[in-house]
Amino acid sequence: MDAAPNNFSAKEVNPLANLDEWDDDLLQRYPDPDSIATAKKTEEYRTYDEHTKDHVREFYRINHTYQTYAFVQEKRNNYLKFDKKEMPIWDAFQFLNQLVDDSDPDTDLDQFQHLLQTSEAIRRDGHPDWMVLVGLMHDMGKVLCLFDEPQWAVVGDTFPVGCAFSDKIVYSEFFKNNPDFSNPAYNTQLGIYEKGCGLRNVTMSWGHDEYVYHMLKGRIPEGGLYMLRYHSFYSWHREGEYDYLLDDHDREMLKWVELFNPYDLYSKNPEVPDWNKLKPYYEALVAKYLPATLKF
Ligand SMILES: [Fe+2]
Ligand SMILES: [Fe+2]
Repeated sequence: MDAAPNNFSAKEVNPLANLDEWDDDLLQRYPDPDSIATAKKTEEYRTYDEHTKDHVREFYRINHTYQTYAFVQEKRNNYLKFDKKEMPIWDAFQFLNQLVDDSDPDTDLDQFQHLLQTSEAIRRDGHPDWMVLVGLMHDMGKVLCLFDEPQWAVVGDTFPVGCAFSDKIVYSEFFKNNPDFSNPAYNTQLGIYEKGCGLRNVTMSWGHDEYVYHMLKGRIPEGGLYMLRYHSFYSWHREGEYDYLLDDHDREMLKWVELFNPYDLYSKNPEVPDWNKLKPYYEALVAKYLPATLKF
């Protein structure tokens, strides 16, 4: 059963002026005491104003209303078949870059630049090469927008569905509009899950994280897969919620998710990486871990 109506209005599909408004909002929520100040000094290259705030609020109102357990199952059944497209990885980055941010073309980085800045920051700090690859790939799932998915089914904080929503999730007050909120099968602390069942047995709200995790499953070490799958699960990795769903393996893996998060949030920089210089390294890295073509 489709839990959400199929005919969303244009505003409901794209409440954000661009996807980066969500990232900008995360920086407001989780400012980095070190690098935010220096980045701002370089240039006020991002503005977070009342418009952004309203867009983000509206974005979460819709996200929290329509991300039901049934909605997620429908998306998983559709997208985890990976039968939509197949292309060489470097074409995939170009495809992803069709997500053009037209709000401020002078100052906004495209998706590939964000990925490269993230991976380069990880590389600079001497982490394993598979983590550099995670930096490069972590937002590849945003291509879902190019398959006409609404923004709120691609980005935004993710959270477990099928059990009670944590009130530490951003704008959690909007969950009262979600049909699962008043469904006794889903609205207890554990809902359909068993205590300590482990996140691998928990269905997360649908978005770019879960999608890219399935894309790279079996290709990189477990820590990297956790980074991909849970990088937007802020109520877990930043707020410490949902302990009752975790098993020891999740608790062990949390350190990898925490290690990755600052590179995602705080590596944004107005300086564009010199791709021609970096290309040989990344071609070798991608060839080491990924197949010649990626399926979407
Ligand atoms: Fe992401
Ligand atoms: Fe990111």
